[in-house]
Amino acid sequence: MVDKAGRSAFVCQECGRAAPRWMGQCPGCGGWNTLVEEALPDARARSARPPTRAAVPRPLAEVAGGETLRRSTGLAELDRVLGGGLVQGSVVLVGGDPGIGKSTLALQACGALAQQGFPVLYVAGEESPEQVRLRADRLGMAETGVLVVAETGAEAVAELVSSTRPAAVVVDSIQTLSTAALSSAPGSVGQVRESAGLLVAACKASGVACFLIGHVTKEGTLAGPRVLEHLVDTVLYFEGDGAHALRVLRAVKNRFGSTNEVAVFEMGEGGLVEVANPSAAFLAERPVGAPGSAVLATLEGSRPVLVEIQALVSRSGLAMPRRTAIGLDSGRVALLLAVLEKRLRMPLHEQDVFLNVAGGLRVDEPATDLAVVAAVASAVRGRALPEDTVIWGEVGLTGEVRAVARAEARLREAARQGFNRCVLPAGNVKGLAAVADVRADGVATLEQLFEVLALA
Ligand code: TYD
Ligand code: MG
Repeated sequence: MVDKAGRSAFVCQECGRAAPRWMGQCPGCGGWNTLVEEALPDARARSARPPTRAAVPRPLAEVAGGETLRRSTGLAELDRVLGGGLVQGSVVLVGGDPGIGKSTLALQACGALAQQGFPVLYVAGEESPEQVRLRADRLGMAETGVLVVAETGAEAVAELVSSTRPAAVVVDSIQTLSTAALSSAPGSVGQVRESAGLLVAACKASGVACFLIGHVTKEGTLAGPRVLEHLVDTVLYFEGDGAHALRVLRAVKNRFGSTNEVAVFEMGEGGLVEVANPSAAFLAERPVGAPGSAVLATLEGSRPVLVEIQALVSRSGLAMPRRTAIGLDSGRVALLLAVLEKRLRMPLHEQDVFLNVAGGLRVDEPATDLAVVAAVASAVRGRALPEDTVIWGEVGLTGEVRAVARAEARLREAARQGFNRCVLPAGNVKGLAAVADVRADGVATLEQLFEVLALA
């Protein structure tokens, strides 16, 4: 079943049933809101195509390895997250909340590439070329040879890419593009997917590197860049809360490098500046002598970074007390609070508990557990933790403290930032090389944690 012009159909993403028009409920499987418009391969073109012959397999050893050609984006941290530079012909999706700095990052990269003499095309769908020029002035790069075009037709942009063959193209944003093949509105799942598909094909065919910019909606998924993750080579997410200047760029997928690498930037008057010492930046505003603040050594990709975990515990007037965790996994937090309540008889069921990772970072590692527990206990007892101490470790359901990866790297980072004590899993202490000026206190249970932190 196709539309009148025979160009598109609404296809259920759950069962594959096609319908000629959009419906709220799939007539096939009964799923709600599962129909997405998709372009159909042109029926005539299909029948005209000659029968394809299967490709001939050959020994793997005879396949040319081929060096990937990488170019520097001028931002060393961005290069590192990309796996060592922008790979020719690769498609990079840059996602993040509106206002986080995606356009700024892309324009700065464009400027640096243009400065090296590479032709760069900036497709502005959200802003006028004049606005892009204003931003470029602000970034001090107006005299570079970046080409800018205001265009929202996916076919037109793909055609521009194929005919001009720049070294790199930026599409800001993918949600503004639309293809004539679909009738749905720009920004809908179908449009975003089909437009990106057209563009990716054009970039791959011409060896053009591409930055696709996409907004993430607050819910995280709706018509957002998530539907594109499988289409592109690299997915970078820009995180941070708008109120802070610190921004974290994280690679969640990378065909040309390792995932989970992060770069830290600071948004300043003249654009994004790389932060050379993220630990110092994240701890810059740490209160001294305040209960509820713990310093955690976490791993961001391959790098250890120190961050502050803050907890506030206050008497609740609600039947179901509040649990709010910003920058932490809320399921994990609920588990840790239950362990504190059950194993250490800490009466949290009548308390509201708020947790926050200072500086807007997100930490998902299990090693966060011990610092979260320490921050909550410190808040409950109203006693500050020793200010020279860094904490990490995984907590199990019986209140046992479990070893985590790369203890020595974390210990070194603590020493480098001037801390002189680490509280870590006892299982990590065995065989741990001594690091000058920092003592490693191993704990095997939460009781021991409370003892060494004087919270018992
Ligand atoms: P922008 O790159 O437009 O965000 P996005 O494309 O992700 O929506 O950045 C928007 C914010 O950054 C805006 O609030 C202004 C601020 N900003 C600076 O602080 N300094 C600068 O040099 C620039 C260009 C922007
Ligand atoms: Mg923008």
